[in-house]
Amino acid sequence: MKGVLLAGGLGTRLHPLTRVTNKHLLPVFDRPMIYYPLQALLNAGVRDIMLVTGGNNAGDFLRLLGNGKDFGLKHLNYTYQEGEGGIAAALSLAEHFVDGERVCVVLGDNIIAGNFRTSAEAFARGQEGARILLKQVPDPERFGVPIFRGRRIVGIEEKPRRPKSRYAVTGIYMYDARVFDVIRTLKPSGRGELEITDVNNWYIERGELGFEILRGWWTDAGTFEALHRAGNLVARSGANKIERRARARRTPRRTP
Ligand code: G1P
Repeated sequence: MKGVLLAGGLGTRLHPLTRVTNKHLLPVFDRPMIYYPLQALLNAGVRDIMLVTGGNNAGDFLRLLGNGKDFGLKHLNYTYQEGEGGIAAALSLAEHFVDGERVCVVLGDNIIAGNFRTSAEAFARGQEGARILLKQVPDPERFGVPIFRGRRIVGIEEKPRRPKSRYAVTGIYMYDARVFDVIRTLKPSGRGELEITDVNNWYIERGELGFEILRGWWTDAGTFEALHRAGNLVARSGANKIERRARARRTPRRTP
């Protein structure tokens, strides 16, 4: 399965922090934000990754991540989004790269404690058209929120004033190759963006969207409160240690 990491946008909710840099380069505890979702994709077994960015600081990603070798990637691919068109518009730029395969999309400001490898592998092998990961949150009105009928999701509402469940749709999405055709049918929402929620609703209407509840903590980092929380969660969790151990394992030891 291919991986797409979305790191565009203007980060207006984080002004003035994002006036001179991209949101996804801001520090979350001891690393730049983008390290975490990149590592999450790698932990899920996705090794062929494209990063979509934009704005004035796109070159900084290349300086920071290079060809992805430090992360154990063979290649890291990049593309550039002009302006701000929403998550679905950013994803559409990766169509050539994805090239008819299944794709796992991760938002560059989403940080998780655990690993969604089992879910990614099941999706890669299975028949579902799309799969989303959910997490129970205290403030669902900030997110895409699923509406349940029994154990089925019958719709997703984007930032509803009165959420119909306590779950957030996290920024980890998996799609089959039709996703790019779906995006071509979308109209901009009230906030002028092509919404990933509309993509997910397209799959729901056809009974082709699967979901799982993400284990371990999850947060976005797109507001001051969320950014602060993300730093605290990372600092307190063993996530750093686990990643360092993984890196040490990949680096061959010198024989004595
Ligand atoms: C986006 C999606 C939303 C999702 C969230 C996860 O929101 O539109 O459905 O729940 O990411 O982080 P945004 O951060 O663009 O407001």
